[in-house]
Parts: sequence; C-alpha cells; structure tokens
Amino acid sequence: AYRAEDDYDYLFKLVLIGDSGVGKSNLLSRFTRNEFNLESKSTIGVEFATRSISVDGKVLKAQIWDTAGQERFLFSSLPSSCSSAFLLSKTTCLHVVALCEAACRCGHVSLYLLLVLIYKCRYRAITSAYYRGAVGALLVYDVTRRATFENVSRWLRELRDHTDPNIVVMLIGNKSDLRHLVAVPTEDGKAYAERESLYFMETSALDATNVDNAFAEVLTQIY
Ligand code: GTP
Ligand code: MG
Repeated sequence: AYRAEDDYDYLFKLVLIGDSGVGKSNLLSRFTRNEFNLESKSTIGVEFATRSISVDGKVLKAQIWDTAGQERFLFSSLPSSCSSAFLLSKTTCLHVVALCEAACRCGHVSLYLLLVLIYKCRYRAITSAYYRGAVGALLVYDVTRRATFENVSRWLRELRDHTDPNIVVMLIGNKSDLRHLVAVPTEDGKAYAERESLYFMETSALDATNVDNAFAEVLTQIY
C-alpha cells in the first residue's frame, strides 16, 4: 500500500545526553543523514532531527533532541573568567549583561551570585523542556576518555530526575574505531549498564558501527 513520506504510526521523542565531545551530534547526523564531521563544533542551544524506521510493519518515527554537554560546567570556571557565562546564547547574554550592569555597584560577590542565579534558572528551564515527553535516551560516553564514563552517573541522575521511570535508556560507548586509545574497556560499560538496568552498545559515528542498531534497539524497546 502507498504511504506518504511523512506518514507514521508512532512518534517517539529521544534525547541524547553525555559530556561535551563524546560524539552526540555525530551520532545524530550519522543516523538521520548518514553524515559524519571530523571537525564538528560544540552544539549551541538545542537541535533536533528525525528519522523513521519500520518495525513489525509499523513506522516508528524518532524525533531526536541534541544539546551541548557542557552548559552545566560553565560556572565552574567563574568568577575568574566571567566571560564563559556569556557563551549561553545571544539573548540571554544581553539580559545577563544588562542585569550585571545594574548590579555592578554592589561589587563582585553579588555580581557573581546574580550570574549564578540567572544561569541556574535558565539551566533548569532548558533542562526540563529538553527532557519533557522523552520516552528514550541515549547516554553517551567516549571510550577514549575515562572522565566521560565517570560522569555517566551524573547524567543518569539528571535523567531520572526529569523523566518517567519507564524511559528506555541505552548506555553508549562511542568512538569504538579508536581501538588503540581505549580507556574504558567494554566490560566496564557492560557491567555499569547491567547494574543500572540500561541497554548497552559500543558505537562509532565515524565508521557507522552499531549506530543504526543502537537507535533501532531503543525504538523497538519503546514500541
Ligand atoms: P557537544 O555538542 O559539545 O556536547 O559535543 P558532542 O557530544 O555533540 O560531540 P561531537 O559530535 O561534536 O563530536 C566531538 C568530536 O569527536 C568531533 O571532532 C567528532 O568528529 C569526533 N567524533 C565523534 N564521533 C566519533 C567517532 O565515533 N569516532 C571518532 N574517531 N571521532 C568521533
Ligand atoms: Mg553536539
């Protein structure tokens, strides 16, 4: 039977989370456009893309959200470099600057506290919008950087705080093509996933290994 290109049976929202530079945006572009960029820039704001797959004769459409993994850490560098706070976005930046000017008379400490407050409010608003309605998540670390694996528990906590307990979560060790640089053995990822009842896969956005499999598995489990 004929089906229009944008005809689907189910629409599922998935979110990509994990530290900056682990390859979230490239996993998304590999899955939705079959593209990879070796020099991709850190994501600014929130982006999303879609792709449909067929499972059991049903068309499952994934709407996948992607954001920068770094926003949360901007304020760790304050107050020495207040400028990093202004990476947020142009409009927020302007608001912050205006407010800061008003608060300047009060001196450095209150300026700093004000920035933190604004940032926290904005971060909370963005975070809840990002997770709202998500039925699946891909929690990504970089197999060549141990720290990104150690931060997985923080991401999982944030995810649990903002989503339904039934959400399907897949832990992903990305960059499996860099075999000689592996700092997180497969067994560690697998063991962590088992302990936390997550699905687990190692992927490479570069050579496309397991990328389709990972997304398809999450969608199938949701369905
Ligand atoms: P933020 O947007 O800052 O949170 O980062 P991100 O998680 O979206 O990372 P991104 O996709 O931008 O990739 C970061 C860098 O890693 C880029 O230089 C990519 O080319 C590279 N990269 C991503 N996936 C892979 C992979 O599977 N293998 C290799 N070798 N490099 C990868
Ligand atoms: Mg990105």
